[in-house]
Amino acid sequence: MTVATNYPAATAYRRILDPANRHNPYPYFAELCRVPVQRLDADTWLVSSHEAITRLLRDPRMSVQDRDIDTTDAPLGSDGEPVTGPFLFRDPPHHDSLREQTMYRFAPRIMGLRPNIEMLVTGLLDKRLSDQPGQLDVVAELAYPLPVGVICELLGVPPEEEPVFHSFAGRLTKALDPEETLTEQEITELAVTRREWREYLMPMIAQRIEHPGPDLISALLTDGDPSTRMTLVELGITLGMLLIAGHETTVNLVANGTLALLRHPEALARLRTDPELAAAVVEEVLRYDPPVQLTGRRATADIELDGHTIRAGEHVSLLLAAGNRDPRRFADPDAFWPERPNNAHLAFGGGVHYCFGAALARMEAQVALTVIVTRLDNPRLVDDPPPYRPNMLLRGPEQLRVAHDGITG
Ligand code: HEM
Repeated sequence: MTVATNYPAATAYRRILDPANRHNPYPYFAELCRVPVQRLDADTWLVSSHEAITRLLRDPRMSVQDRDIDTTDAPLGSDGEPVTGPFLFRDPPHHDSLREQTMYRFAPRIMGLRPNIEMLVTGLLDKRLSDQPGQLDVVAELAYPLPVGVICELLGVPPEEEPVFHSFAGRLTKALDPEETLTEQEITELAVTRREWREYLMPMIAQRIEHPGPDLISALLTDGDPSTRMTLVELGITLGMLLIAGHETTVNLVANGTLALLRHPEALARLRTDPELAAAVVEEVLRYDPPVQLTGRRATADIELDGHTIRAGEHVSLLLAAGNRDPRRFADPDAFWPERPNNAHLAFGGGVHYCFGAALARMEAQVALTVIVTRLDNPRLVDDPPPYRPNMLLRGPEQLRVAHDGITG
């Protein structure tokens, strides 16, 4: 097999994005990983080894900010600068201030959530109790409603509003796609969705200003030092980001985890008899089939990496999914092995932008996978491979039909 190097832009990028490769991009990623740093096009590099990705994620010279954003009409944020996006797309120091304010209120609220998540997942599966033996779509019936239900609980959104949140989560997720993969129409629709989201959220925020409750929105509005507190615009953007960043990612983790377990019945059997294994199973799913496959940065200074110079202003695509199967870092990288020692995967990124919701995502997936394997009798895949959504960045099955002989009550 030839070693991939210096692909013409069109070839490598097209192959990475090609939906035909979506059900199993890993053989191609393994090829790419052999050359840790390579040019993707005139001003973009592709980085695919564990070591180089880890290094760049922690390098303060790598920026997440988009230089080309027009800030003419942007309102000013709590740092006195134009608001250009959520803290996922902001560099320190303002990133750190926004993240810290949000984390300070978010972390204590998720600590006691496990029983609520268990109730939520149990309730979703109970809806199918009349269908025995039967078939369910794990994506539509379990994985999709779960993160929206959890985020609504955190934000104090009443259950009757959940379908609205659900619809926004699906539509706003397009904001995380690389812009070059969106059509003109999708870009226009996204702008409309963003406006509708603001129009929907602002009355909810106004209501919490009048009547604060124990929820996250109220805490972000009222806690802490008013002189550094995020503005209402920043708050709206932060809430939208929590909804988007925590939605499709968690859906994919639950679906990818179910798929991996059904394809590895010995691991499934072990989890069924030993629910303590759930944490290790989820870490291995995150490595083996990560919900976020790729992220990006822009160099703000010249950076030497692996014998190459990444020039200031150039873009870097970090192929997390390739780094997660780098044979230089993981023994037998294509094996699904929950007991894998020192499983330092890249699924949640690294450095200052390390996933904000990692603890919550882990909890949701551990509960969901345990409930699925313990309550479904003789679960088996109806389609293998299942159909995938076209999105490359947030990769996951569109549908995951599982047949079973019964559901225990
Ligand atoms: C399996 C589920 C999840 C995966 C795989 C995942 C993955 C990631 C990754 C790779 C990043 C870093 C992006 C970068 O550095 O460019 C990130 C950041 C982030 N994630 Fe997650 N995420 C998940 C769930 C969640 C959840 C449940 C939430 C919130 C409720 C969340 C909120 C965020 C936020 C706000 C950031 C930006 C952090 C920052 O810039 O400081 N994520 N996530």
